[in-house]
Amino acid sequence: RATTDDLVPETLDDLARGVQGCRRCPLWRDATQGVCGEGPARAGLMVVGEQPGDQEDLAGRPFVGPAGRLLDTMLEAAGLDRRDLYLTNAVKHFKHEPRGKRRLHKTPNAGEVQACRWWLDHERRLVKPRLILALGATAGLALLGRKPAVQAERGQIITADDGARVLLTVHPAYLLRLPDPTTRDKERARFLADLAVASAEL
Ligand code: URA
Repeated sequence: RATTDDLVPETLDDLARGVQGCRRCPLWRDATQGVCGEGPARAGLMVVGEQPGDQEDLAGRPFVGPAGRLLDTMLEAAGLDRRDLYLTNAVKHFKHEPRGKRRLHKTPNAGEVQACRWWLDHERRLVKPRLILALGATAGLALLGRKPAVQAERGQIITADDGARVLLTVHPAYLLRLPDPTTRDKERARFLADLAVASAEL
């Protein structure tokens, strides 16, 4: 097929254009646009989330909604500046279902994650980060090639089969969902400790 999603991107700009024309899986149909990664082309740390949310889908930028705001705060607390990092997602289009006027997030399946690895792998090839921070199970699946046990494997650097150094932690949206204040404080502290491991590596 001679579509743009078959062309090997030579730059991150090429890649961003390719994502807009991506037909590798059906998720493009219901999304406003593709959401590519953003950040310095030679960032030492790449942060990988799951997929764009409602606000990211509309803005065309990763991590600009509630989870992104929490991530920014926590990164700053760990001594990391978002502007120095390359932020992206395992899946580049927003998967959702309508619920009244709202669009409810749906977790991408393994086939969608696999299809979108084309883009994540090219982002990794172009940015060459020293360390990749995987936020949650979907990012872990995309980077490790298997579904990780996030709570058991978090906070330590894992070497993937392809040689990537991956630090796994929970997704910030998980922290936002915790109803109990004591659990929430404890989980935020653990998340911060995981980010400190990344910070110490840079
Ligand atoms: N959640 C993600 O995983 N990625 C985003 O970009 C926003 C929310």
